[in-house]
Amino acid sequence: MKIQISAIVGARPNFVKMASILEEAGRRSAFQCRLIHTGQHYSPEMSAAFFDELGIPAPDVNLEIGSGSHTAQTAGVMLRLETELNERRPDLVLVVGDVNSTMAAALVASKLGIPVAHVEAGLRSFDRRMPEETNRLVTDVLSDYLFASEPSGVRNLLNEGIPQERIFLAGNVMIDTLMRFRDKAAQTGVIERLGLQSGDYAVATLHRPSNVDGVEHLACMVSMLAELSRHLPVVFPVHPRTRERMERAGLTVSGLILTEPLGYLEFLRLISEARLVLTDSGGIQEETTILQVACLTMRENTERPITIEQGTNRLVGTDPQKILRAALATLDAPPRSLAPPELWDGRASGRILDILERSLGGG
Ligand code: UD1
Repeated sequence: MKIQISAIVGARPNFVKMASILEEAGRRSAFQCRLIHTGQHYSPEMSAAFFDELGIPAPDVNLEIGSGSHTAQTAGVMLRLETELNERRPDLVLVVGDVNSTMAAALVASKLGIPVAHVEAGLRSFDRRMPEETNRLVTDVLSDYLFASEPSGVRNLLNEGIPQERIFLAGNVMIDTLMRFRDKAAQTGVIERLGLQSGDYAVATLHRPSNVDGVEHLACMVSMLAELSRHLPVVFPVHPRTRERMERAGLTVSGLILTEPLGYLEFLRLISEARLVLTDSGGIQEETTILQVACLTMRENTERPITIEQGTNRLVGTDPQKILRAALATLDAPPRSLAPPELWDGRASGRILDILERSLGGG
């Protein structure tokens, strides 16, 4: 009997993480995976484009929950997923990351008595104002297998009283995907299409509610990026949440190279050859660490401290003037990176599946 896994994805970063796990599972006879898309992200450029580029099989089920309040999204996933999991009764529900779909799926599985594995467990910003922090805490407390991407994750889980035998330092599955697709990404023509010179532009992304939901702050952040663009070209792929806020506020932007959300391969090439990346994303802090590209994180905290301790990431807060000063200083003196974080070697998915195979049997 194969080990039946229901793998849950909902939002863009989930697709990148699950891609490598599914690819690895597909090569092993021990596993049978059923892919469940909650539909949290649904626009073609936020969802289908990633499935195509990353070779993720079409979902077996799409719960089509769409956008809504946190409660509406969480409850929507729970109601629809309960029916699906009750019918299938998999041996394991596998969740990744920290989006609403992750937490909702862990809750349903736990209530049904189905074991839960959480990939990217233990990350903590210690900032409950971030919706993802609640998602991480709830998911981890409900999980039976907790796969941490960096040592801080293991420490946090132990401090919270999670039994050691449930915790595994497995490495970073997003870096598995990066390594797998790096050469292919290098063949995309995005830098040329946008009229840029390799190594001589910045890339900015903004989508955290704390940065984009307040109109005044968002306007100041965009002005700051426009100011930076007097020093070097700044590409700003605009997340749908950010675009909606900008349009609603009637914000006009000059000087920046605005794009739609980019696909995985184009974005990977873009950040690989950037002189500087400014972001409030979690995953981009990790990707720039491996790519050895200077990254300024426009947040007050990070749940990924290894990217600062060993990587090229710097926390610069959310004050636009301070960010601009830090950006200009970084152009003059780019940070050096130390050794890549432990186990960010492209083989995290394999380690995770080894552990699940040993523990859940099958054959
Ligand atoms: C979600 C995650 C966040 C993750 C991010 C990656 C939560 C709480 N947040 O934030 O952790 O970093 O995804 O992108 O789960 N929209 C579209 N098309 C889509 C999806 C969303 O237009 O396919 C628009 C809608 O206006 C929606 C808004 O974006 O209201 C926000 O989407 P939502 O999924 O609620 O949160 P994100 O900001 O994308």
